Amino acid sequence: MANEGLPPELRSKMALALDVDDLVQANRLAKQLAPWFGVAKVGLELYTAAGPDAIGSMIDMGFDVFLDIKLHDIPTTVARSATVAGALGVSYLTMHAHGGSAMLRAGVEGFQNGAREAELPIPTALAITVLTSDADAPEHIVPARLRVAVEAGCGGIVCAASDLKDLRELAPRTLRVVPGIRAAGGERHDQPKAVTPEEALAEGADLLVVGRAVTLADDPAAAAAELFAGLVER
Ligand code: C5P
Repeated sequence: MANEGLPPELRSKMALALDVDDLVQANRLAKQLAPWFGVAKVGLELYTAAGPDAIGSMIDMGFDVFLDIKLHDIPTTVARSATVAGALGVSYLTMHAHGGSAMLRAGVEGFQNGAREAELPIPTALAITVLTSDADAPEHIVPARLRVAVEAGCGGIVCAASDLKDLRELAPRTLRVVPGIRAAGGERHDQPKAVTPEEALAEGADLLVVGRAVTLADDPAAAAAELFAGLVER
């Protein structure tokens, strides 16, 4: 039954975007939605408000943590920040591919070293190729940045569902993380390219990022049950 949540193999593919500025509210949402989500995404808003406490809190609740702070700085700084993230137990960390190969390589190494020194599993660095809001980015830039990211050792990429087909050819072993998930006909907010969970999985997404479709609902658990009903009934 959809109301009981997702089976473990699907739950581990669902990341809950906790785009709120208050850890109490984030904890409440995470607890309510835990039956559907195995990954908690801590973004810039929550990280600015609550810092590493947000990471610890989600780990304590049993989530894998996706720290979405999109690092973009000189290699030394990115490496140091990524090392801290790895040591804190973060499983996924985003970095801008725009930062170039030296920055990405330093970030990947730092992230993995931080986890290794803390005797934690090796985590996955995720590259952002182009922001969905960047209407000026030329089309050829996505494959070029993807190549840089893969060569630098990033294990995953954040992309629109519409890019999944190209990615299968360009980087078949890369973890594909897809935001913009909505129920069919649901409110899109500012997501230009929304897809349903079924569509994203059918196109080869490995990790689905879901935010406002559930977090803004009057009853987030009921919204999650509805959003994922098609997967549970299969
Ligand atoms: O739209 P939703 O609330 O589901 O967004 C979830 C995540 O998708 C956000 O935390 C953000 O990282 C990403 N996003 C995006 N493009 C947008 C809006 C959000 O990639 N236009």
